[in-house]
Amino acid sequence: MSGIHQDIEKILIDERTLKKRVCELADEIRRDAGQPEPLLVGVLKGSFIFMADLLRALDMYCEIDFMAVSSYGANTVNTGQVRILKDIGQSIENRDVILVEDILDSGETLGYIMRLMKARQPRSLKLCVMLDKPERRKVDITPDYVGFSIPNEFVVGYGLDYAERYRQLPYIGVLKPEIYK
Ligand code: PRP
Repeated sequence: MSGIHQDIEKILIDERTLKKRVCELADEIRRDAGQPEPLLVGVLKGSFIFMADLLRALDMYCEIDFMAVSSYGANTVNTGQVRILKDIGQSIENRDVILVEDILDSGETLGYIMRLMKARQPRSLKLCVMLDKPERRKVDITPDYVGFSIPNEFVVGYGLDYAERYRQLPYIGVLKPEIYK
């Protein structure tokens, strides 16, 4: 192992398994949507790789947009603070909106974003997350689409960072504890 891969203790979800699951999620979304043309809203930065793969697997008319929020800072502890750094560039009134996130953890971030989006009166609002850590939940949220439910381990890769690093790993890996201690 070389470069950034050597900071990884173990691979939790490998590249092939991720790819297969993303295709299944895209099929589920397409089946549920029927005729409408949904707007996929990715929450930056973590969602950018999942969003790109999901979109390429989604064989239907759809649009995308992004918003950027900040909740953690450069550490592993959620402060419960959510700041909107960039909002979407359009009205979602009467649109079918699917929020796309890399991970649902405490639910603070998505709880906030879901409330904000609902207030804008979309026709429907769904939540699609690649990873879910149900053990960590503080806010009552149930996603409509989940790639994988995972245990409470410190994961990076496939968009997820530690101190802004490791987002480019093509798998979901568990970081060696000495890296973040
Ligand atoms: C991650 C993730 C979610 C949030 C989930 O983002 O993308 O937005 O944390 O945690 P929660 O359920 O406890 O709110 P992060 O703040 O690390 O920013 P990033 O997407 O820019 O990496």
